[in-house]
Amino acid sequence: MASRLLATLSLSRAAGARAYSSGVTKCTLIPGDGIGPEISAAVQKIFASADVPIEWESVDVTPVRGPDGKFGIPQEAIDSVNRNKIGLKGPLMTPVGKGHRSLNLALRKEFSLYANVRPCRSIEGYKTLYDNVDVVTIRENTEGEYSGIEHEIVDGVVQSIKLITEDASKRVAEFAFEYTRAVGRSKVTAVHKANIMRMSDGLFLRCCRDMAEKYPDVKFEEKYLDTVCLNMVQDPSKYDVLVMPNLYGDIMSDMCAGLVGGLGLTPSGNIGLNGALFESVHGTAPDIAGKDLANPTALLLSAVMMLRHMKLNSHADKIEKACFDTIKEGKYLTGDLGGKAKCSEFTNEIIKKVQSH
Ligand code: IPM
Ligand code: MG
Repeated sequence: MASRLLATLSLSRAAGARAYSSGVTKCTLIPGDGIGPEISAAVQKIFASADVPIEWESVDVTPVRGPDGKFGIPQEAIDSVNRNKIGLKGPLMTPVGKGHRSLNLALRKEFSLYANVRPCRSIEGYKTLYDNVDVVTIRENTEGEYSGIEHEIVDGVVQSIKLITEDASKRVAEFAFEYTRAVGRSKVTAVHKANIMRMSDGLFLRCCRDMAEKYPDVKFEEKYLDTVCLNMVQDPSKYDVLVMPNLYGDIMSDMCAGLVGGLGLTPSGNIGLNGALFESVHGTAPDIAGKDLANPTALLLSAVMMLRHMKLNSHADKIEKACFDTIKEGKYLTGDLGGKAKCSEFTNEIIKKVQSH
């Protein structure tokens, strides 16, 4: 515990940012399924147009049968992420049927990506019910209801175990405070149901409280999950950074995404001790796959988060501005945003803007 916390501390000093030396950095790219390859190609084109000093290492994560007969992530893909310690991932399909755990979860587990960061900010030019949303959900990413511990007790009675550990709660709480400080935000809200799950959420909450004491410069409050949902849809400006257990974060981050236009527009980053994987949260959209109709914004903004994580801030700013300006102008919008543009037309417009800056 102590050594891990120490390691976490050094990592979290800049909210998970790693120092990258000048020169070209290799990044793993997991293009994914369905629309994944075309939106990944769009991101690659935009990055090339902005002269981003990274080299992509594309890997396939389709599970392969190992020597033990079990299916798992190909070793080559694991090695790539472990080597590069940074990656971008498109949507992955989970085969329907018994015995298949989501590959998305397998990747988070494999690399101990313990903090999931999901910023949601209103996008100018894309009108929703709310204009000033600016919240960040930080989700515990390795345990809780996602632990995968389920069994049948007797016929017709199943049990699912929600696992909460002090170790995982502390590290995500610490991450939330470090992140808040590093990005110049001011408040952390711990979201919980410790009134009902007294022991499990109680432990999570206690870890957040204890951590809050070490960050007197950051405001801290604790709120019930249902209260936060209610308040969030009435007045999202009440919140800043939210930290919570895994399942709550899954639901809350979709709700927040809904306030600003949905999963096609919101980025996500999975940060761990030994690496970080940035991903779009939306699905593979098989109905429009391969038709040049997909919106690459969520993956592009995730890639922009990745650039900030790598301290390539000027490249990140330039690309993000070009993307937001394209949406604001509204001339080349994809179908999901109410436009008629193809993915390639939207992408080319962003490239034009990147190059004219
Ligand atoms: C997410 C997704 C995943 C999750 C699915 C695809 C397994 O909904 O990243 O939020 O439940 O965590
Ligand atoms: Mg989700």
